[in-house]
Amino acid sequence: MGTQPIKVALLGAGVVGSEVARLLVEQAEDLAARVGAPLELVGVGVRDAGTDRGIPVDATLFSTDLAGLIEATKPDIVVEVMGGIEPARALILQSFESGASVVTANKALLAQHGAELHEASAKHAVDLYYEASVAGAIPLLRPLRESLVGDRVQRVLGIVNGTTNYILTRMDESGATFSDALAEAKALGYAEADPTADIEGQDAAAKAAIIATLAFHSRVVLSDVYCEGITSVTAADVVAAKTTGHVIKLLAIAERASDGSGINVRVHPAMVPRTHPLAGVRDAYNAVFVESEAAGQLMFYGRGAGGAPTASAILGDIVAVARNRLSGGHGPRESTYEQLPALPVGQSSTRYYISLDLADQPGVLALVAAEFATHGVSIETLRQDGHGEDATLLIVTHSARESDLAATVDTLRGLDSVREVTAVMRVVGE
Ligand SMILES: NC(=O)c1ccc[n+]([C@@H]2O[C@H](COP(=O)([O-])OP(=O)(O)OC[C@H]3O[C@@H](n4cnc5c(N)ncnc54)[C@H](OP(=O)(O)O)[C@@H]3O)[C@@H](O)[C@H]2O)c1
Repeated sequence: MGTQPIKVALLGAGVVGSEVARLLVEQAEDLAARVGAPLELVGVGVRDAGTDRGIPVDATLFSTDLAGLIEATKPDIVVEVMGGIEPARALILQSFESGASVVTANKALLAQHGAELHEASAKHAVDLYYEASVAGAIPLLRPLRESLVGDRVQRVLGIVNGTTNYILTRMDESGATFSDALAEAKALGYAEADPTADIEGQDAAAKAAIIATLAFHSRVVLSDVYCEGITSVTAADVVAAKTTGHVIKLLAIAERASDGSGINVRVHPAMVPRTHPLAGVRDAYNAVFVESEAAGQLMFYGRGAGGAPTASAILGDIVAVARNRLSGGHGPRESTYEQLPALPVGQSSTRYYISLDLADQPGVLALVAAEFATHGVSIETLRQDGHGEDATLLIVTHSARESDLAATVDTLRGLDSVREVTAVMRVVGE
């Protein structure tokens, strides 16, 4: 074993960082044996150095001057677990400048400034690893970046946000409304005091951008990702999903367009058939379903958040980066050679579930069916339930373009005999 320690600086000691520090100290002997040299924690950057974090780290290692900490300790590896865009971005760039490799869990930063960070790491011949940024403990990015790099990924479907999966599970299993399920998630610590980024889908969208970049060798940023959250999913939608053999999930989807013109990257709630492996992913668990040409279907499942699970992914990255440094090399560079454009959501295709309240009169069904045909949307199943003078029509379409379906629904809303379009939901995972 090398005697020169690999110096590690930690930026952030909150939920994730304190677990990283604990594991670095408590598992020091094993980690040293696996790396081939000891890992030495040389400093911990925080906002408040006086907070007792209950971790076995010498108080003198804490500092509130994070730039100064990097300059003074000259770490080999900087672990960024502070979150946010600035000063995290500037500190990571400073770390590269100083010759350090970086491990980060910061999905928001990567989804917005990934290109700049990758270019800087390449320029300084150091590593940028970020396994923990998507789906917490679940090994997903390294499989995409390394294990599946010889294959051609066609589609990735992910449940990558534990908060929304918990809420949707409660709505499905106990019939709770969205607001009751959200309150429960907050009480149990599955949702933050301000859950906006989770329930509006932005957290999942950042992860979708990272997944799509790796899966399709194309630079995808947060603003490329179409995003709809779960705030408008109603208890009635959940019942409708149940009665048709589906469950509603918030999905992060990245897929090649069938004509090869680009990729569709989007986050939205969707009805998933109960027979699909993603349908059984309950509570705050995450899972990512990958379809690739040669490997076929793969599923990665586990804990997508939490201090210890996320720290597990970070420690994996620290060991990988430390090994790279010892061997005098670096890990694989970002690969964006395909440069497939992210297509507008209107060009994506999927099946749809639509429910309508309409007047139960002769000819109305034919009128509705004609509107679907006019817009080139083919109906797969149709069920009409009459109640008095009105009827409810439940329609599932074959795969249709989003823009065609939207035009159909717009026209239906304008028909006198259609009282209300009560639900429009994508159906994914056939
Ligand atoms: N929590 C999870 O389950 C999870 C899962 C996957 C990925 N992540 C990612 O991991 C990162 C950290 O998340 P977390 O939940 O551990 O956050 P957190 O509990 O809020 O911890 C953030 C830490 O960074 C420090 N910090 C933040 N801004 C700072 C600044 N401007 N200057 C100095 N110190 C600063 C804080 O110092 P003080 O303690 O002194 O305030 C705190 O120790 C985020 O990028 C998050 O997206 C988290």
